[in-house]
Amino acid sequence: MSETAQSRDALTRDALRAAGLPDDVEVAMIWAQTTDNIIGDGTDMPWYLPEDLEHFKNSTVGAPVVMGRISWEALDPRFRPLPGRDNVVITRNTSYDAPGGTVCATIPEAIAAAYRVAGADASTVPTVWILGGGEIYRQCLPVADRVVVTEIACGAPERFTVAAPDMRATLEDGSFTVTDGPWLDSAKGTALTGEDPLRYRICEYTNTNSK
Ligand SMILES: NC(=O)c1ccc[n+]([C@@H]2O[C@H](COP(=O)([O-])OP(=O)(O)OC[C@H]3O[C@@H](n4cnc5c(N)ncnc54)[C@H](OP(=O)(O)O)[C@@H]3O)[C@@H](O)[C@H]2O)c1
Repeated sequence: MSETAQSRDALTRDALRAAGLPDDVEVAMIWAQTTDNIIGDGTDMPWYLPEDLEHFKNSTVGAPVVMGRISWEALDPRFRPLPGRDNVVITRNTSYDAPGGTVCATIPEAIAAAYRVAGADASTVPTVWILGGGEIYRQCLPVADRVVVTEIACGAPERFTVAAPDMRATLEDGSFTVTDGPWLDSAKGTALTGEDPLRYRICEYTNTNSK
């Protein structure tokens, strides 16, 4: 798709509002990536980082979550749907079945449905979390109020080609600001590329256009 077509089709907060999402509900995205923005190969990730799994759980449990069909299928079946969270799956396949989750055909519908199925009003559902993957993160970036990235100091084998948006580029164009956490050593983390100890940090990006 050309850049012009991409910006013409860019997701807007107006589209979320039209789908029924109140303005005061935060849209936040969360992912873990290598230093080069790699997040997966379609099914797996090139690291095992228990501290990040804990951080992911602590951040999202109790809130509604939205993910693309490929990320849904990549979840370990023992944790699908993700427990303690209302799961919403986005697919263009109108006959898709996601047992335990809610299926939506567009991103605005999915974000608004996440807010609705979580039961409530903006005071009890302050945040809808976008859980990926690469395709969904890219499309949701313009409407993300906050992006929480665990940056892992590791590489990835060549087959890992799914990438997250380059958040460092958003600092250069002024669309986001960042607070970088300190680099930490993982106690038991491992990477397919062998870094030991595995180092990571949590970076929180804030959209400069958010209220
Ligand atoms: N490291 C991390 O933190 C992290 C987090 C999440 C995911 N991941 C990884 O990311 C990979 C998956 O990412 P991905 O980019 O391949 O796929 P994805 O974003 O998870 O899902 C893509 C699918 O979502 C649906 N979709 C996308 N845009 C849509 C739209 N505008 N309207 C309706 N449906 C839409 C389509 O489903 P249909 O084809 O069914 O129509 C599309 O094939 C996996 O390897 C996963 O493990 C990593």
